[in-house]
Amino acid sequence: EPKRSLEPEEHEKLRTQMDDLYQRLLPSDESEGRRAQLVKKLDRLLNTEWPGNDIRVNVFGSSGNLLASSDSDVDICITTPLKKLESMHSIAMLLHKNGMEKVVCRASAKVPIVKCWDPELNLAADLNVNNPLALENTRMIKTYVQLDDRVRPLAKIIKYWTKRRILNDAAFGGTISSYTWICMIINFLQRRDPPILPSLQKKAEERKQPENGKIPQFADNLDELKSFGGANKETLPDLLFQFFRHYGYEFEYSKYVVSVKEGRLLSRQEKGWDPANHYEKEARNRLCVEEPFTLNRNLGNSADDYAWSGIHGEIRRAFELLADGCQLEKCCEEYEFP
Ligand code: GTP
Ligand code: MG
Repeated sequence: EPKRSLEPEEHEKLRTQMDDLYQRLLPSDESEGRRAQLVKKLDRLLNTEWPGNDIRVNVFGSSGNLLASSDSDVDICITTPLKKLESMHSIAMLLHKNGMEKVVCRASAKVPIVKCWDPELNLAADLNVNNPLALENTRMIKTYVQLDDRVRPLAKIIKYWTKRRILNDAAFGGTISSYTWICMIINFLQRRDPPILPSLQKKAEERKQPENGKIPQFADNLDELKSFGGANKETLPDLLFQFFRHYGYEFEYSKYVVSVKEGRLLSRQEKGWDPANHYEKEARNRLCVEEPFTLNRNLGNSADDYAWSGIHGEIRRAFELLADGCQLEKCCEEYEFP
């Protein structure tokens, strides 16, 4: 049986380590400034090239959800009625002409994107066009992060661990994205007893009187919701320890689906991702995480069985290192390829 909880002195030790690490992970004002400059520069480039097309440059992902570090790349969503920009090629050309480096166009990706590197501002950027879903889910994540003071440090420390252990590159590593990890963290906090986070999507459905006749996708009335998690007194060290314990040992991957939308677990049968049903394509995946807005999309499916067993092993490794004397530094040690 894996250790159940931290001893008081271990708890204090881990608290100090987490505080120190969190301070180091907060983005510097200088890097935030460079991010803002990149947005301005792209806005100017695009609106000079195609004037009068109401082109707007929005950030999403970690640049918009309060979970960025100084070295995070900038996710940018351009919105415009000018349809020809959606193919991305003309944007790629424009960036290339204007001093951006490593410009790569992924027109065939799930969402077509252009990647580039700005040598002047020392930033990598991913751009896409007219993807309102990405802006909405970013705003929802940001709302969850603002609801309780424990979410931001916990999520930033877990994200740092996933980066250092190379567990967050859905596109290349066959692992899972930061976004998927964030959904796992939010759902873990929704399922604490008493819960730390509500389901913002359910809160929106419950609201009787929609303000402008339209029911919003998720509740964002921060002032009213801020007291939600107050009855739960768990500390950051408790939560980090329990996060790894939960996904390392308790969670029954063959039985349940992580659902941020419902704020609970769904059984794989009720979701239709039943491992016993060999004809169902999601059935085989060991990790099932429902995308909160596109419910038939399983965010866990970027990891195959082999990749998933590696990730699961890493979660257990992290747990053992914390259980055995709170070795947070070793836990987040850079992964070395054998
Ligand atoms: P870092 O880049 O690691 O700092 O984290 P991040 O918060 O930017 O997450 P990530 O790069 O994984 O994703 C950026 C954004 O893209 C997310 O906030 C989502 O809006 C969106 N996104 C990523 N993956 C998916 C996906 O599979 N489905 C959908 N609908 N959106 C996604
Ligand atoms: Mg990102």
